[in-house]
Amino acid sequence: MIKLKANYVLTMNEKNEIIENGEVIFDKKIIKVGKNLEKNIKTIDLGKNSVLMPGLINTHTHLEFSANQTTLIYGDFISWLNSVIAKRENLLNDCRSHCYQKAINQMKKSGVVAFGEISSTGLDLEQLKKTELKVVYFNEIIGSNPAAIDALYQDFLNRLNESEKYKSEKFIPSISIHSPYSVHPLIIKKALDIARKKNMIVSAHFMESQAEREWLDNNKGDFKIFFKQNLNQEKAVTSTIEFLSQFEQVKTHFIHGVWANEKELQKISSMNASIAHCPVSNRLLNTGLLDIERVKNLQIPYSVATDGLSSNYSLNLFKEIRTSLFMHTGLHPKYLAKDLIKSVTKNAGDILNLNNGSIEVGKFADLISFKLSKCLNIEDLYLQIILHINEIEKMWINGKKIEI
Ligand code: BEZ
Ligand code: FE2
Repeated sequence: MIKLKANYVLTMNEKNEIIENGEVIFDKKIIKVGKNLEKNIKTIDLGKNSVLMPGLINTHTHLEFSANQTTLIYGDFISWLNSVIAKRENLLNDCRSHCYQKAINQMKKSGVVAFGEISSTGLDLEQLKKTELKVVYFNEIIGSNPAAIDALYQDFLNRLNESEKYKSEKFIPSISIHSPYSVHPLIIKKALDIARKKNMIVSAHFMESQAEREWLDNNKGDFKIFFKQNLNQEKAVTSTIEFLSQFEQVKTHFIHGVWANEKELQKISSMNASIAHCPVSNRLLNTGLLDIERVKNLQIPYSVATDGLSSNYSLNLFKEIRTSLFMHTGLHPKYLAKDLIKSVTKNAGDILNLNNGSIEVGKFADLISFKLSKCLNIEDLYLQIILHINEIEKMWINGKKIEI
């Protein structure tokens, strides 16, 4: 058992309490939160200007593509997708252990204690099964061509089974459906039946681009040529509502949602599903900006996430929320700042079922600390953190100190 003392304890609890000169007692889980707690416990005073808060959670990454820096084409979704298809093998081959370690270290330095990884090949398993960070490992299924789906489904099953061998409190095997345009409903059904049976969280890209909107609504737009050329396909394999309806009774994290319409968002809300907001990725592929007010008004929980280095320059989650703060120019910076920090802590922890993301009794002690000079107005703390923090000083996962 250990006690930490900090100038500011950001609890991210229901009331968003900030405790000045606060203390937190924990072992693996948080035992007590408050002020002037028991004295006869090993105590670490984090010092002048210290902030203690829940560790950040990046709900959506693709570490397999971490070798990308300047290889992929940005500026338009279909050009980017074509470049991914052309360079995929090279990028996968170029990411060996050092490349994964670099990506994980970048996240760790920016305060990330847990992340949701989309694995399309299983090549990331060796590195991720042993990392100190918590991983929700989403085995991805892809394939819309009926002639290929049996083999693709079998490959997905093999990867899922392999990942399940390493299931632990910190490594949680799960399932990802690539998208409504790229996965045949027959294999979606089979994969989601497994998710329901095993009580797994599921992730799915949804309504990322205008091209996706036009293809699924009218079998038109930029995807028309793409599907004709690559898969000799004239029509989308599903409608958006048919797609969404397949996720009933599954806890689902939809990625992007930028082009989702009111009916789809209402459906997402009614299924208690969540959305990942990836502003840098959306900007680089020029796909627009998620209307987070609309999402919040429908009571859809959202998290900010980096996506992979395949569509980002960094996996630093503080940088990602700073970008988000600057992009949503219609929202008040102070209230948005609090909401963004909530999105990468409490919301993200709930989305990935991790029982962390807030400093409350019974939550896992997944904590970070850093220094920030005194804030005149305590309510400015969220905004000042987003403006000034890129890297953290200390981290604990399940109450254990992590070297960074
Ligand atoms: C497909 O298999 O349908 C597909 C794969 C990648 C991108 C788009 C579609
Ligand atoms: Fe993604």
